[in-house]
Amino acid sequence: MLNRPTGRPDRRTFAIISHPDAGKTTLTEKLLLFGGAIHLAGEVKARGQNRRARSDWMKIEQQRGISVTSSVMTFEHEGVTFNLLDTPGHEDFSEDTYRTLTAVDSAVMVIDAARGIEAQTRKLFEVCRLRNVPIITFINKVDREGKEPFELLDEVADVLALDVAPMSWPVGMGGTFEGIYDLANNRLNLPAKNDSGHFEGETIKVSGLDDPKLGDFVSPEGVEKLREEASLAMAAYPSFDADAYLGGDLTPVFFGSALKEFGVSELIQALGAFAPSPLPQPTSKGPVHPDFDAVTGFIFKVQANMNPQHRDRVAFMRVCSGRFRRGMKLLQPSTGKSIAVHSPILFFAQNRELADEAFPGDIIGIPNHGTLRVGDTLTEDEAIQFTGLPNFAPEILRRVVLTDPTKTKQLRKALDDMAEEGVTQVFYPSLGANWIVGVVGQLQLDVLISRLEAEYKVDARFEPSPWNTARWLAADNAADLKAFVDTHRSAVATDRDGAPVFMAKDLWELNFHEGRNPKIRFTATKERS
Ligand code: G4P
Repeated sequence: MLNRPTGRPDRRTFAIISHPDAGKTTLTEKLLLFGGAIHLAGEVKARGQNRRARSDWMKIEQQRGISVTSSVMTFEHEGVTFNLLDTPGHEDFSEDTYRTLTAVDSAVMVIDAARGIEAQTRKLFEVCRLRNVPIITFINKVDREGKEPFELLDEVADVLALDVAPMSWPVGMGGTFEGIYDLANNRLNLPAKNDSGHFEGETIKVSGLDDPKLGDFVSPEGVEKLREEASLAMAAYPSFDADAYLGGDLTPVFFGSALKEFGVSELIQALGAFAPSPLPQPTSKGPVHPDFDAVTGFIFKVQANMNPQHRDRVAFMRVCSGRFRRGMKLLQPSTGKSIAVHSPILFFAQNRELADEAFPGDIIGIPNHGTLRVGDTLTEDEAIQFTGLPNFAPEILRRVVLTDPTKTKQLRKALDDMAEEGVTQVFYPSLGANWIVGVVGQLQLDVLISRLEAEYKVDARFEPSPWNTARWLAADNAADLKAFVDTHRSAVATDRDGAPVFMAKDLWELNFHEGRNPKIRFTATKERS
């Protein structure tokens, strides 16, 4: 066992949200470097029975050069443990990506200075907003030509309806880039003379923007521009306010270059200083505080068939309270059974060989044979059931067509299984025979077909469906809901839990029906009942 001091170690559990190519991978690498990287969960090399091979179905990932699976990376810095939950970086992302964001306490939003806010950043941001997740913004690639800092700040403020508090200011960009000024600490970070890719430049402490010493390190034009812009920025934008940040209303903004390691140290410091420690999590009986004695947690992701021979799965659990120890028995309220967690994959430890326990904010991988589902609670206290792990409205809907119609039963089992894992959603239309699968990224369809074939021996294909978007239906009055469902039978389906779902051709049609039926709520997320 580890000899840890008593008390809960400090954790920051966070994710990076960004559009592909904004620099998430580069920034992740630099963060790990700062913290003396631990390991990537996709490369878990544990001893004995924890050993897992990379599975065949992951060939899809390899072929397409992308990762469909989120992973957990841990690093330490100045006494704080950081759990970075990765969200797949490709355009094709899945509900997993969204759900991962339900297991974090804060997020870092990476924006490419030349491109500003892009589609995927925005989508992921919206998911964060559902839970008021506090966000630190990192405007990356200032070593290249980009948009003006003011334009970028205004874009974040306008597009995301968020207050912005600039924390640093670039001295020029691209060809004129001369460094970054830390507004809070009055420090100037200068680029390294040699371009080794690591920050090896000097940090100069000055008394303020008026300090004549700035002229010793930056060109006269650079100093003038910095003074003018930074003073204006400090006057024009709100200053950092911890409560507004924690409430998800304000984002501190750092300019930097992940590649050249500019601003990375400031970012880690900001995460340590401002980002929340593990927060209380909502349950059916009110929030569970991390200091609560009993071990509780919820499953936010299930990774299937890491070894195709064994149909095994790894469920990722966020520890929400208590002090988890290897071998513990935890109740799974959804089945009423207890499971003994003998061989958890522990992602947090500096030295995996010694890892026998986990604390709130940590993630544990639990190997199982399909008993653990996304959204499941595991607990020492019977009364607790976590809420708030929603399903997200799919953005791609496809009709499933069987090549061999006698395999209907197998197909249903396969689709239900995968819906349980949370990799896809399945809808059973009120009229018509073909089931509909819904995913949030194209890649999930490829994964689905290949898994149907490999694991369930079902040969199927997808055809376009008449619908392109779906919303769960709800109403205060059951009769209103029934009336709506009855009149719109051809566009209504049920999900795997039997909840009614409205399917529309496009957003225009959806808006039309929303406008006409004020008593019906059309929701893009559905909490697991
Ligand atoms: P992603 O995970 O968000 O998709 O982005 P990734 O880190 O892979 O970065 C995308 C590209 O942007 C990479 O270039 C990377 O080197 C570059 N990049 C990341 N941060 C910075 C930065 O601060 N400044 C500059 N100038 N470039 C940056 P690539 O050419 O696509 O790949 P590579 O050949 O360099 O690996």
